[in-house]
Amino acid sequence: MMSSGYDGVLEGPEGVPDLVRVRAMFDEFASSHNHLTLYSAICREVAGDADTASLLLAASPGQRRPVLWLAALHDLVLRRPDVAAARWYPSVVGQGRVPNGDPWPDVRQTVLEHREELTAAIATHSTQTNEVNRVVYLAAALSAACADVVGVGVALVEMGASAGLLLLLDHYRIERWSAHRTTHVGDPDAPVVCVGQDRSDPPSMATPLPRIVTRAGVDLHPVAVDDEAGLRWLEACLWPDVPGRVERFRAAIEMARECPPTLVRGDMVDDLAAVVALAQQGAGPGSHVVVFSSWALTYVAKERRARVAEVLDHVAAQGVPVSWVTAEPWGCMPGIPLPPLPLPAAGDDSTVLAVRRWREGVETEPLVLGTCHPHGLWIDLTDLTAR
Ligand SMILES: C[S@@+](CC[C@H](N)C(=O)[O-])C[C@H]1O[C@@H](n2cnc3c(N)ncnc32)[C@H](O)[C@@H]1O
Repeated sequence: MMSSGYDGVLEGPEGVPDLVRVRAMFDEFASSHNHLTLYSAICREVAGDADTASLLLAASPGQRRPVLWLAALHDLVLRRPDVAAARWYPSVVGQGRVPNGDPWPDVRQTVLEHREELTAAIATHSTQTNEVNRVVYLAAALSAACADVVGVGVALVEMGASAGLLLLLDHYRIERWSAHRTTHVGDPDAPVVCVGQDRSDPPSMATPLPRIVTRAGVDLHPVAVDDEAGLRWLEACLWPDVPGRVERFRAAIEMARECPPTLVRGDMVDDLAAVVALAQQGAGPGSHVVVFSSWALTYVAKERRARVAEVLDHVAAQGVPVSWVTAEPWGCMPGIPLPPLPLPAAGDDSTVLAVRRWREGVETEPLVLGTCHPHGLWIDLTDLTAR
């Protein structure tokens, strides 16, 4: 593991010096994220500055990405609003209160003054998210999964739940808008408002959510509502100059403190049966077990993913309705026939919404609902075969 004292030229497997690669990654991030005023300005400068870029060499394998460096600095300014860089962060000073000008001198000063602290954070952390706006697509998929199981309470289980904020979807106001109309589900008066565009043709209607009676999540690194450092790290992994994103996260955490979802530390495949059993407790006999994953199954090795269906087969053998909802990148979900579309272009991070269903102990036809933005900014429920 490299430390902050790095000053040499290490070579990666293909003979390209590691620091050169790291600087190129910052440069790439800056060019591809021009819409992020602060982050693109910082990354453009880091790309040309070995002293600050080299901190990323401390990251563990697979984590050497600018977003980790940015998260470590964001975590520092959230913790220490007195450091020079903090005044450039809307998440610290408030939206619209960031000064005009060049943040780099303050950012560089802060990074170098806190070099050891930042290097330690980079060496010991990995990026993790809990993106609340994903409930826009989750609500659509959950309603579709429950359309044929009306009037039955849902025992909701999330694989890769992070802080479990998506499990509380019915507590939020979830809006779906198009040129024709805006519809919403959830709690109309909630302080957490999640919004996505409906790009479906014909436009789709948000349909009421089912009654969720129990909720449980499993994660390798669950973040409990009383884990201040863990929650701050999740917040630090959000991009501060996307308006509303940090504020929505904070409001959802406040709501989660009122009604914390059950979170289990474990593996989403190996420990799924136990977590489903936990959710079923108190849900009442015959409850509809709905298991979902949102940008989480993709982190599980491909050959392990089919095991989820085996576990759910077993649950369905109890005679209860079971659904498996996924919002994952193209091709991630096993057992979902994808229509013969051209393969998405490299870098296309569209998310595929799909449901596998077991009714009366037998698996039925899967549903491929459509696609959506990975943060729920839009959903498109147009029949994929008709596109
Ligand atoms: C990108 S985050 C998504 C979190 C949340 N589902 C959301 O949509 O906001 C992926 C989550 O999956 C968890 N994760 C990755 N592999 C896992 C595994 N094998 N078992 C349980 N959780 C896992 C990570 O710790 C992380 O919290």
